[in-house]
Amino acid sequence: MHRTTPGFARSSCATCHVFLATEVFDTLAERSEDELELLVEAEGYQECGSRLSCQLDFSQELNGVTVTLAPEE
Ligand code: FES
Repeated sequence: MHRTTPGFARSSCATCHVFLATEVFDTLAERSEDELELLVEAEGYQECGSRLSCQLDFSQELNGVTVTLAPEE
């Protein structure tokens, strides 16, 4: 079954690609198939660390975490 994230178009840009530390990455909800499809084609993709920041649910638990911007493509 293919899961589509509401409000997330397959043609999205991936310019919000960021890297998170493993200890932060592991606490987040899993990436949707749509997010992962964009990420694997993005510059510098990291299996355990890459996220599209526009797809993250920012909660108090993320307050203060360090986010590294992915290189521009
Ligand atoms: S995919 Fe374009 S801003 Fe996140």
